[in-house]
Amino acid sequence: MYNLLRPRLFDMDPERAHALTLQTLSLAGNFPISHWLMQMMYSTPSKPVHAFGLTFKNPVGLAAGYDKDGLAIRGLSALGFGHVEIGTVTPKPQPGNPSPRVFRLVEDEAVINRMGFPSRGSEFVQMQLDPNLNLNWIERILGFSPGKRRKPRPKWNTILGVNLGKNKDTPNEEAVLDYLALLQNFAGVADYLTVNVSSPNTVGLRSLQGREALEALLTQLHQQRLYEQRTYEKRIPILVKLAPDLNDAELDEAIEAILHTRMDGIIVTNTTLGREGVRSNHRGESGGLSGKPLTVKSEAVLLHTIKRVNGEIPVVSAGGVMNPVDAKRRLDFGAALVQVYTGLVYRGPALVKEIVKAL
Ligand SMILES: Cc1cc2nc3c(=O)[nH]c(=O)nc-3n(C[C@H](O)[C@H](O)[C@H](O)COP(=O)(O)O)c2cc1C
Repeated sequence: MYNLLRPRLFDMDPERAHALTLQTLSLAGNFPISHWLMQMMYSTPSKPVHAFGLTFKNPVGLAAGYDKDGLAIRGLSALGFGHVEIGTVTPKPQPGNPSPRVFRLVEDEAVINRMGFPSRGSEFVQMQLDPNLNLNWIERILGFSPGKRRKPRPKWNTILGVNLGKNKDTPNEEAVLDYLALLQNFAGVADYLTVNVSSPNTVGLRSLQGREALEALLTQLHQQRLYEQRTYEKRIPILVKLAPDLNDAELDEAIEAILHTRMDGIIVTNTTLGREGVRSNHRGESGGLSGKPLTVKSEAVLLHTIKRVNGEIPVVSAGGVMNPVDAKRRLDFGAALVQVYTGLVYRGPALVKEIVKAL
């Protein structure tokens, strides 16, 4: 079916096509009949994975950036994903960079984006995850809503990750405050959190991957996590997402900081600033490249990371997972989970089921 739909979507501006797809998934996920139909069509065999103290129904997840504001979690979960990572969420709402900011490189099966964290902000996303937070200003002062019955928390039927980022106007020296606030806001409603210090489209963000800066940031997040743990009576796993453009020494330093500060996992990789092997006209656009040309680099970073981590914490592989063969290779290398984004754009939603069936 996606083969019929793809040419129509590819005629549209990429961001417009994406918004339409997300709206459709959101609608379809919220009506019981369409939700049930999708679950039937995309049901995946059970291939459970245990990682970070969580049980994933299969190792295939949706990478961050697809559903930045948590609008279509039920619909996305019905596509068979073992986990869905929403975000990047920033504390305050922000518009991101001016459009056009997403480009399809069809002949390369790739995408370049320079979105720059458009986000409706933490409060909006929290309300998608827990409707009870939707209090008016009087109720907020009171701290509860008199007369209103508590609504049950939505059940996602998938593991829900929330990817966290700082606002554009927050200087790096104060970035920790943004991440701490986000950790507090999402500790009670997410299954795991990802600290994103690797998007290439927020100026200076990636310098937080340096040993000293990363260790300072993660130490404080770990302290806050211990505090939240007492409130919610569960350990909230924290993962760190790294860029593919770190050299070996930089990667080693980031991994050391992650292990030293008792983080629970690493996601490699985010998009690259490199353009190796890219032929399309859009190759000159600035931003992060994803999809097929990222496969080789992401695999190399994965292998290096797995070796360094030496089994201490699970490693999640993202970047150029375009088909079941790619996914299987990553898991054979030792990745605990894989994540897809650009593969979905080119292959459609059946990719998830195809991968899980092939494992
Ligand atoms: C349009 C677009 C937006 C993205 N936004 C985010 C984001 O907000 N946060 C993030 O951590 N990664 C983001 N990513 C990166 C993906 O999560 C993923 O790491 C990367 O695209 C590599 O995987 P892929 O080759 O399967 O797409 C985005 C990717 C794309 C294509």
